[in-house]
Amino acid sequence: MTTRLWRPYCQEQTTPAPLTASATAGSRIALADGRTLIDGISSWWTACHGYNHPVIRAAVAEQLEAMPHVMLGGLVHEQASVLADRLADALPGDLEHVFLSESGSVAVEIGLKIARQYWLNSGAQDRSRFLAFQHAYHGDTFAAMSICDPEEGMHSLFGDVVAGQLIVPMPRDSATLANFERVVEQHAHELAGIVLEPLVQAAGGMKFHSPDVLRAVADTAARHDVLLLLDEIATGFGRTGTMFACEQAAVQPDIVMLSKALTGGTLPLAATIATRRVHDAFLSDDPLHALMHGPTFMGNALACAAANASLTLFETEPRLAQVAHIERRMARGLEACRDLQHVADVRVIGAIGVVQLDRVPDLEALRQAFVAEGVWVRPLNDVVYLMPPFVIDDDDLDGLISAVIRVVSRWSRAPC
Ligand SMILES: Cc1ncc(COP(=O)(O)O)c(C=O)c1O
Repeated sequence: MTTRLWRPYCQEQTTPAPLTASATAGSRIALADGRTLIDGISSWWTACHGYNHPVIRAAVAEQLEAMPHVMLGGLVHEQASVLADRLADALPGDLEHVFLSESGSVAVEIGLKIARQYWLNSGAQDRSRFLAFQHAYHGDTFAAMSICDPEEGMHSLFGDVVAGQLIVPMPRDSATLANFERVVEQHAHELAGIVLEPLVQAAGGMKFHSPDVLRAVADTAARHDVLLLLDEIATGFGRTGTMFACEQAAVQPDIVMLSKALTGGTLPLAATIATRRVHDAFLSDDPLHALMHGPTFMGNALACAAANASLTLFETEPRLAQVAHIERRMARGLEACRDLQHVADVRVIGAIGVVQLDRVPDLEALRQAFVAEGVWVRPLNDVVYLMPPFVIDDDDLDGLISAVIRVVSRWSRAPC
């Protein structure tokens, strides 16, 4: 198929044409050429209920009949208000003010803007910078790029354009913890917030940290009265084993960002959710204290219907038990990679399984090898990872695991 589509994350001159997908169902992607692939990455980690779940399809179809979209300026609709209530109920603590948008990067932008304006509205003009962590990835827009890893990330070209933020190593041991605490202490007067992907830094290399690390970050933020922004765009909705990763550390952020699996991977939607304390700093007689933000398609009714149906599925189907099952099976299965040459680590949390290589392979060659094995797995720099739909059956999950073992074994004998 010839196409004028500009492809994402792709050197188009040297990368072969993309495969054409013609249909999806459950944990499988059908290609136009008749092949079917077992999906190991849930369409960029979104399709937690598998593809084409009938409950989400029915909710979207019903909403389509009534009202596909209406602007949220001056109007509201039931799907959006119900979704706000349900998200506020599902999240820990008093995270209860829900601002809707259409993508993860935009949700992050809004989180940063809310944090900055919280301090402006509170009379702390200097609180304008953010602290984030090496290996972080928070999106591709400019403010989001400023809090990604400046060297390892994919945005190093834009160093002279994005805002200069404080990027420090994750405080995993006493030295990095001392460094983190020192930087926060030195810069607290100018810090608006600390931004973190809780438990798993996803696109920056599938790096895990413990709930203790997350707690230490939260404690330091609280001690210095710096806002804590948790980016649960990849980790939210069960991916790490609990509905939200922050639950595992009993940490309550001031602002949380959600997207990806919010609609079960069917329609674009994101949410930035703030605590009552943060939200109430925007209430004033001064119009300039209002949050001046409003994406045209925020709260799209079809997307909100999909998100409400997705939340219903978390209540009515055993998603977290499925995640626990996937975790056990991947941990057992992927262990076979641990002793292979050029494999540096194997790690699993929830429905995320990672084989860490000791170098960046020829990514295109590996991707093609996976397709030849009948699976859709796309290594990310030096990691081969699985993030399957939670509904995947054991046969398909084993198919993914054995494809990873076969492809990584072949590569490890002749790493390219
Ligand atoms: C943790 C995290 N934050 C933000 C984003 C950006 O989301 P989007 O691609 O929807 O803009 C991503 C995307 O991978 C992500 O993993």
